[in-house]
Amino acid sequence: MNKMDIIEIIEKKKNKKELTKEEIYFFVEGVTNQSIPDYQQSALLMAICINGMNYREIKDLTMAMTYSGYTLDLTSVPGVVLDKHSTGGVGDKTTLIIGPIMASLGVPVAKMSGRGLGITGGTIDKLEAIPGFSSNVSEEQFIEALTKVGFVDGAQTKSFAPADKYLYALRDVTGTVQSIPLIVSSIMSKKLALFTDGIVLDVKCGSGAFMETREDAEELAGIMIEVGKLAKRKCKAVVSDMNEPLGYTVGNILEVVEAVQFLRGTVQNPRLKTLVITLCSEMYKLYLEQSEGVPEMTDEKIEKLILKSIDSGKAYKKFKEFVTNQGGDVSFINSIPYTLEELGESFVSSGCVEIKAKKSGTICGITAHEVGRASQALGAGRITKEDEIDMGAGIVFKKTVSDEVSEGDVIALIYADDKYKLKSAKKMMEKAITIKSDLKEPIHNDIIICKKN
Ligand code: URA
Repeated sequence: MNKMDIIEIIEKKKNKKELTKEEIYFFVEGVTNQSIPDYQQSALLMAICINGMNYREIKDLTMAMTYSGYTLDLTSVPGVVLDKHSTGGVGDKTTLIIGPIMASLGVPVAKMSGRGLGITGGTIDKLEAIPGFSSNVSEEQFIEALTKVGFVDGAQTKSFAPADKYLYALRDVTGTVQSIPLIVSSIMSKKLALFTDGIVLDVKCGSGAFMETREDAEELAGIMIEVGKLAKRKCKAVVSDMNEPLGYTVGNILEVVEAVQFLRGTVQNPRLKTLVITLCSEMYKLYLEQSEGVPEMTDEKIEKLILKSIDSGKAYKKFKEFVTNQGGDVSFINSIPYTLEELGESFVSSGCVEIKAKKSGTICGITAHEVGRASQALGAGRITKEDEIDMGAGIVFKKTVSDEVSEGDVIALIYADDKYKLKSAKKMMEKAITIKSDLKEPIHNDIIICKKN
């Protein structure tokens, strides 16, 4: 094909026509080898964003992106190897908790994670807050870790679904991030390039997520499952609430601290606990469905097994094994205090400001989007890809939604190394929190919205 053809492809999508498999593969190849200029890539992205794609087109786009680079075969790893993916949110440290739980139950978890951008935190940044931890994992190390430890988390390399790297960078600056076909192909291409036996997707919904409404989140979940199935990969999805941040902390070291305290059983935020148990249960069901000779289990029995892995200390032990295996300093993990109240200076940035209740009443909302912006302003997140992260910056919540407060009570502590950052984040935090003194109806803030198969 020549340059004319890409113009025809753009025009076809502009005119709401279906693209053929060949046209989609031609586009992705041109993105990968950068023979199609950015302006033409952007034009097609915008046409897709506005006019959408059908299932077949989304599947072809996803598969073309999956095979745009390196793939990782995991057939040499014994057992049913699973992956878990969250579409991104504020305070989401579930991977740090779920990986060790599942590994301690004998179900290997293979993860390739990303870094945070915008208001969304990234698992790799959180893990790299542990001194010495390396997310640079070779193919051999990845397979060895899965076989030996049962949980591995490496950073996506440039050669992994490279078409997505180029397309995501363009989407970020052309207003084309918010598009179901583009989100599905971006996420699923990276998931499918890792040949796991099944994937559990945590699709976030609300002010701190890509999908703000339940309808959009359910649609996204349904299409991701469908595309996974078309690619012969077993998938389940959970749609979960991201209107308020997840757990008591936001920020890199802080989220490692909360994950460790959760695994030790000393601090377990109820919404985080419900989500962890739900996602682990869905993963365990995927494992059972693909295992021969394993007796069927009720949901209650699966939940008990998960809770036992935490209560017995097995999941926490597995977490330390995982950290050690990837070069992390386990003495740092051991030095983490048992409660958030005991956090010493070595875990947080030097400056701290209290966010206090402006009036007495019930906290009826803590907007995840605003909290995400505040955490970015504090230095816990990036505004551009090149930004350095302050690992000790972030937020600790002392109160959460539904709590009663009196005027002047401390709702949150914010940490940064600079008073100007603290000042601007304080304003955002105050905007995020809604208190009502005359609340008439109960607050509904269930974390699980629905499950999909
Ligand atoms: N995460 C991704 O990797 N891609 C998207 O498009 C959205 C979230």
